[in-house]
Amino acid sequence: MDKLIIEGGHPLKGTINVSGSKNAALPILIACLLVKGTVRLTNVPRLRDIFTTLKLLNILGCETTFEGNTVTAKVTELKHEAPYELVKTMRASVLCLGPLLGFLGEAKVALPGGCAIGARPVDLHLKALERMGARFILDSGYIHGVCGSLIGARIVFDFPTVGGTENLLMAASVAKGCTILENCAREPEVVDLANFLIACGARIRGAGTAVIEVEGVRELKGCEYRVMPDRIEAGTYLVAGAITDGELTLVDCPLEELDALVSKLREMNVQVERQEGGTVLVRRGGELVGVDVTTQPHPGFPTDMQAQLMALMCVAAGTGSIQEKIFENRFMHVSELGRMGARISLKDRTAMVRGVPQLVGAPVMASDLRASASLVLAGLVAQGTTEVQRIYHLDRGYERMEEKLSAVGARIRREKE
Ligand code: UD1
Repeated sequence: MDKLIIEGGHPLKGTINVSGSKNAALPILIACLLVKGTVRLTNVPRLRDIFTTLKLLNILGCETTFEGNTVTAKVTELKHEAPYELVKTMRASVLCLGPLLGFLGEAKVALPGGCAIGARPVDLHLKALERMGARFILDSGYIHGVCGSLIGARIVFDFPTVGGTENLLMAASVAKGCTILENCAREPEVVDLANFLIACGARIRGAGTAVIEVEGVRELKGCEYRVMPDRIEAGTYLVAGAITDGELTLVDCPLEELDALVSKLREMNVQVERQEGGTVLVRRGGELVGVDVTTQPHPGFPTDMQAQLMALMCVAAGTGSIQEKIFENRFMHVSELGRMGARISLKDRTAMVRGVPQLVGAPVMASDLRASASLVLAGLVAQGTTEVQRIYHLDRGYERMEEKLSAVGARIRREKE
């Protein structure tokens, strides 16, 4: 297992290229199961979850190549079973259900694992697919679904689930007739998946709003598509610039998808500006101050940026708060930040953060993907050495993070534990 060693206290200066979005690339890769012909996807980040997805596609009968950041995918003969060995490491595998049912009328997918952030059930996916005619049984840890063919339906999600909306978008694209999805997730990654499906010939209207209409088509054809840049990676580097009192320029930063984060950063006295040529500049505009944040479905403040903003609030003046409304149990970074001298108290789903003048380096343990990022950020500003253990979580979601950070002046290196 690898760990990261960080010597804190060095302001970051320079340029960072934002990678392609993991959370957009995953469903788009899985949607390749629906396509007749070859798909060529560019801007795919080289991350553990992507390699796992490619393995899953291969097992399901889709051949892939991955060179640089380009994936080609072509279905040869589709199979319906996604085994536990793969699915247990990545929750997004449940997205196979929609395409497999839509295409084969049968799907057997192990119940997913993934980040340890709360119960994370898939009941909303199943309920919605049932509305389209699928029937499910739970069989030795597998969800086994069958249907004659999926039939268009009107589906109102109880909660705007990102994965659920994506699963149904894929299923409805090849279903018989028209599907109307209501109370949909409006995340940019849902829009990216819809745009990909449209490029393959799907008929989808309204992605990015609460109501999406899908007219099923007989088949989808191959296309070439560029995956959107990763807004959470970009947001993490915005915080890195601010926390180290540095000055960073981000290339390919999807600023328009980061409104909720940017407005909180500005409230904290961080300047974030689009520059000529499209790059984004981040630096402090004054003393950092605490703010109150509540995570919400998009366009509200993203839960995936909560831990990183908390690291920034740890060194801001005054008190701030973070209320987590999307996931239970997503505060595992709190006790680790505490080991670095942060003053955070937790009550139910709200963390109160009292800023301290200085964090102090310590050995800390990463518990999930975004929690790992917050510990790295804290390490960048802490006095002395921070050792972030279990960074396999980080490798699931950040492409070459230590390389990107070293190139802008961070003292950070990877070592074997
Ligand atoms: C996706 C993102 C993840 C992000 C999350 C919320 C990917 C691969 N992952 O996860 O990084 O943090 O959106 O923005 O894109 N829920 C149910 N039943 C369901 C489905 C969800 O109760 O059937 C609950 C979940 O437990 C959670 C909430 O709804 O509390 C949000 O989940 P959802 O939007 O589905 O998140 P994911 O798609 O899993």
